Amino acid sequence: MMTVTSVGLIGGGRMGQAMARRLHAQGVPVQVWNRTAERLQPLAAEGIPVTTDLPALLKGHPVWLTILADGPATRSVWSMPGGMAEHAAPDKVWLQMGSIDYPTTLALAHEARQRGLRFLDAPVLGGPMDVPTGRLIVMAGGDEEVLEAVRPVLEALSGRIVPMGPVGTGTLAKLASNLLLAHMVVGLAEWLSFGQQVGLDPLRLWEVVKNSKLYNPVFEAKFPAMLEENFQPSFALQWMTKDLWNILEAARQFGAYTPVAHTMTALYQAAQNHGLGEDDYSAVHQILRLFSRGAGG
Ligand SMILES: NC(=O)c1ccc[n+]([C@@H]2O[C@H](COP(=O)([O-])OP(=O)(O)OC[C@H]3O[C@@H](n4cnc5c(N)ncnc54)[C@H](OP(=O)(O)O)[C@@H]3O)[C@@H](O)[C@H]2O)c1
Repeated sequence: MMTVTSVGLIGGGRMGQAMARRLHAQGVPVQVWNRTAERLQPLAAEGIPVTTDLPALLKGHPVWLTILADGPATRSVWSMPGGMAEHAAPDKVWLQMGSIDYPTTLALAHEARQRGLRFLDAPVLGGPMDVPTGRLIVMAGGDEEVLEAVRPVLEALSGRIVPMGPVGTGTLAKLASNLLLAHMVVGLAEWLSFGQQVGLDPLRLWEVVKNSKLYNPVFEAKFPAMLEENFQPSFALQWMTKDLWNILEAARQFGAYTPVAHTMTALYQAAQNHGLGEDDYSAVHQILRLFSRGAGG
């Protein structure tokens, strides 16, 4: 068993920044690298170590935590000159926490192990607002020994770590979770758009749902976002689109019948093509309004 001394965190996006702050606040030494260095300025201003030198970060820390957009982004940091593959060694552990596709997870785990690098896929449920209070839930895929090696890091980030099985099962559990999340948010969007189209008062509709068994805490922020058409992103729509495509790919691989996921993917892809990719994923409501008769302008 390894004692965790410090974390090299790769990815200074919304989730990466929140995770870096949480680790720092919990007393876990952390240093952050991001492709776009300017994005790290807020962390640097708060006294959290950042660097533009990826090889130095990789050499300097026993745990590498990736929290990048998708599979291609994660692979690019793995295989770039001076990147992770070049520095892989048995005294390092790769904690892969981004929501990436299943085939890339398996391929990267295999390539890591060929170099003696231990790998855990550990994506999370919960957004940047959940990180400061440790409310992220980690879905871990990989060997027990690797999970134990990084447990202090995961426990600093998360109040619940659920071992799912071998490598890849963390990623599959994350895809399953986001399939449910998409259902919930598309359901809310369609409920609201239908109500608006038939001329009901949305606030009275909300009063009904909020006080019923239909209520879900996810709706609390997403209902006002849809009503006020204010889609400040906590989770960008383009990343939900990416997750839905990855869900369809896994469903096809395993033979899972997911007819509604196909429809939701088309809906999300249309929203992204319509220019809503950088908005919050609840902006899918805009597409339903757009195609409702006379409502979309
Ligand atoms: N936000 C959430 O609520 C949430 C919750 C759970 C899981 N996740 C997952 O966490 C991951 C990050 O999400 P986020 O919300 O932090 O997204 P984000 O704010 O858009 O950040 C994306 C990160 O990926 C990097 N990146 C993108 N393409 C890259 C490439 N080709 N090479 C290197 N780096 C690249 C970005 O670097 P640049 O700054 O240089 O573009 C940035 O660090 C995603 O897999 C997402 O699905 C998000």
